[in-house]
Amino acid sequence: MRITVFGTGYVGLVQGAILAEVGHDVLCVDVDQAKVDGLKAGRIPIYEPGLEDIVKRNHAAGRLSFTTDAAEGVAHGPVQFIAVGTPPDEDGSADLKYVLAVATTIAEHMAEAKVIIDKSTVPVGTADKVRDRVAEVLEGRGSDLRFDVVSNPEFLKEGAAVADCMRPDRIVIGTDSPEAEELLREVYAPFNRNHDKMIVMDVRSAELTKYAANCMLATKISFMNEIAGLAERLGADVEAVRLGIGSDPRIGYHFIYPGAGYGGSCFPKDVKALIQTARGIGFDPKVLQAVEDRNDAQKEVIFAKIARHYGGDLKGRVFALWGLSFKPNTDDMREAAARVLMEALWEAGASVQAYDPEAMEETQRIYGDRDGLTLVGTKEAALKGADALVILTEWQVFRAPDFDLIAERLKAPVIFDGRNLYDPARMEKRGFSYYAIGRGRA
Ligand code: UDX
Repeated sequence: MRITVFGTGYVGLVQGAILAEVGHDVLCVDVDQAKVDGLKAGRIPIYEPGLEDIVKRNHAAGRLSFTTDAAEGVAHGPVQFIAVGTPPDEDGSADLKYVLAVATTIAEHMAEAKVIIDKSTVPVGTADKVRDRVAEVLEGRGSDLRFDVVSNPEFLKEGAAVADCMRPDRIVIGTDSPEAEELLREVYAPFNRNHDKMIVMDVRSAELTKYAANCMLATKISFMNEIAGLAERLGADVEAVRLGIGSDPRIGYHFIYPGAGYGGSCFPKDVKALIQTARGIGFDPKVLQAVEDRNDAQKEVIFAKIARHYGGDLKGRVFALWGLSFKPNTDDMREAAARVLMEALWEAGASVQAYDPEAMEETQRIYGDRDGLTLVGTKEAALKGADALVILTEWQVFRAPDFDLIAERLKAPVIFDGRNLYDPARMEKRGFSYYAIGRGRA
């Protein structure tokens, strides 16, 4: 089937690539000429395990092409995915200008019936706006071509995006059109094996499903971070509590890991956007607001522990930092806890020697050659002469380090662990002052 994908960001590129991988003929459209040239030459703008191979293989096979020519994209076939960004506005609502620009483009160029699919995470009501926009432009052209607008949210996780797309838990389709549903069944047939994963519903419910999913997960995390704060003040161990509650299948073990706060391109943005949607219709989002507030506070927790340990005297101190990306297996620094911590340390007159397996270039891009930031090539190099080690991302390579070497290289054996990687009792026995989240030292 001939499929067009507008937007070659995370969602669009991964979606386009895996649709090509199963045999569809996919054309990806992006306004960014440099990005399109890069993709044609096999340069993938993001780090995502497995993606580069799939893009190169399918591009070489002629099933995956890239263009900046929107008219060519519209002419390519009946299925038109919109997977462009929805950056937050000033107030945190999702900005729809790119989505609506693509809708306009499709309407301007279409010469046959189209099924237009919202793949971007968009507020409830967006499909109606897309439909109105397309209808308006078609009317201006004096055209009565048929089109459907479908909501088909994406649930991929960064770092596991290819696998998530290849083996989705569910395929949510929001449409009231049997023809559009049938077409999407055909598009997704290769991924819809073993049992029917397609959940078909009305458009607004599909749009809200995406926000509800992310906000529910963010709620689990903020809830656990709150319990962690309580645990360390009450002399309990949140990791024991986590296992104790996770064993209840109604709660489950997933997404109840306390830490330095959630980041990334989705949770912070989507929680904010749903809060704005609620306020916009005069509904007070009490739970969502608390989830956001707890997360903002959580990103300050490690800094507070550091400041307390040094009695507020941070000027001139050097901190080794392991982990910059918002989570492992990505180079993404959006809303990363590391940014909040580094900026607080700089503000207090301290400096940072940082190492991350993937996010060094991205950190360089964001902060440039800023005073107080040294990026080093190995985790061991970060330790040299530092006052303490701080860990903010649970990369596998940080899980079993050489503790003797850490103690030897640091000025004093002090670790602030924002991801609860080590056992507090064992660390204290090794002679470390070990601060974690919700266990042991407050
Ligand atoms: C998320 C959703 O998982 C995905 O379904 C959606 O489509 C997009 O948003 P992603 O942002 O890639 O994906 O990352 P995810 O793995 O969900 O982690 C988000 C943040 O939560 C990270 O900062 C992570 O460190 C944090 N987290 C996650 C916790 O602090 N504790 C947990 O138990 C789980």
